[in-house]
Amino acid sequence: MTRFVDPTEIETPDPALRPKRLDDYVGQERVKENLRVYIRAAIRRGEALDHILLSGPPGLGKTSLANIVAEELGVTMRTAAGPTLERGGDLAAILTNLGPREVLFVDEIHRLNRAVEEILYPAMEDFHLDIVMGSGPGASSVRIPLQRFTLIGATTRSGMLTSPLRARFGIHAVLDFYTPAELERIVRRSAERMGLEVEDDAAKELSTRSRGTPRIANRLLRRLRDFAQIDGDGRVTLEITRVALERLEVDAGGLDAMDRRILHTIAFRFDGGPVGLSNLAAAIGEEPDTIEEVYEPYLIREGLLQRTPQGRVLTSGGAGIVGYTGNGLFSR
Ligand SMILES: Nc1ncnc2c1ncn2[C@@H]1O[C@H](COP(=O)(O)OP(=O)(O)O)[C@@H](O)[C@H]1O
Ligand SMILES: [Mg+2]
Repeated sequence: MTRFVDPTEIETPDPALRPKRLDDYVGQERVKENLRVYIRAAIRRGEALDHILLSGPPGLGKTSLANIVAEELGVTMRTAAGPTLERGGDLAAILTNLGPREVLFVDEIHRLNRAVEEILYPAMEDFHLDIVMGSGPGASSVRIPLQRFTLIGATTRSGMLTSPLRARFGIHAVLDFYTPAELERIVRRSAERMGLEVEDDAAKELSTRSRGTPRIANRLLRRLRDFAQIDGDGRVTLEITRVALERLEVDAGGLDAMDRRILHTIAFRFDGGPVGLSNLAAAIGEEPDTIEEVYEPYLIREGLLQRTPQGRVLTSGGAGIVGYTGNGLFSR
């Protein structure tokens, strides 16, 4: 199946498109304005900024925002991915190398294992490590002081964070899907940086068909550039945009092939639901986590799907999209 709009990709293929300062970062106004105040206050006091938890679906700008915070603070940022920190010592080594007020960015922080997480508690709270030497009655604990630093954690699943970890973040910022107007600004800015001419109606069309997600808008824009160069004169026109998105299986509502497959499966294999996540995943041949983290948030936000205690249920809007008029929906 075509996966052009799969937003799980971690690294940006085109770093030039990544916003570098708060002023370049489109949308998320409330989050931005609050961060601006906290950053200024921390700088004025000469202190490390409070720890920040960034949550939201993939591709909405968590990594970009973490980079921006470090940039605005004028400090270096180190990056670690939650799942790659296997032993407590891996994290301890990173922490002891941090300079004063530096930022440590931990991506997918909900995937930290227990041992690593326990290193993090005293580090975040009191800026020290407790290293246990030896074992049994002779064991002793050594306290190693750390510089005051800022941890920025990013997660697509804030509900999976343990409560002691969550409690150690002073700032929680929840990123939301972008409006078409915001995505249009992002598309125009990206086109400019790519040296690509995009007609107004084409930019509008793309911004309503990118699942509210900057990463998808940028990725589709790169594909449109290909089509424009091969099938047209290099300019991205509305016509080129429509034909290309059709070929990429992005429909007029901005749903991709997997979105439609999820709706279709709930409708016709499970009579509109409710269906449990694992049954749905098995029927589709996709990981439950991917369905839950990548696809569902947008379908729910668009009012096409609901999560109920009994399982996933199609809404009448979702049923309409796949042309389902079955009994399941009307007997509820
Ligand atoms: N607010 C924004 N303004 C402009 N571009 C953005 C914004 N958020 C994300 N992007 C673009 O989308 C890409 C993916 O964002 P990223 O920060 O990697 O998302 P996440 O870490 O949440 O998955 C970025 O490289 C950037 O090009
Ligand atoms: Mg990221």
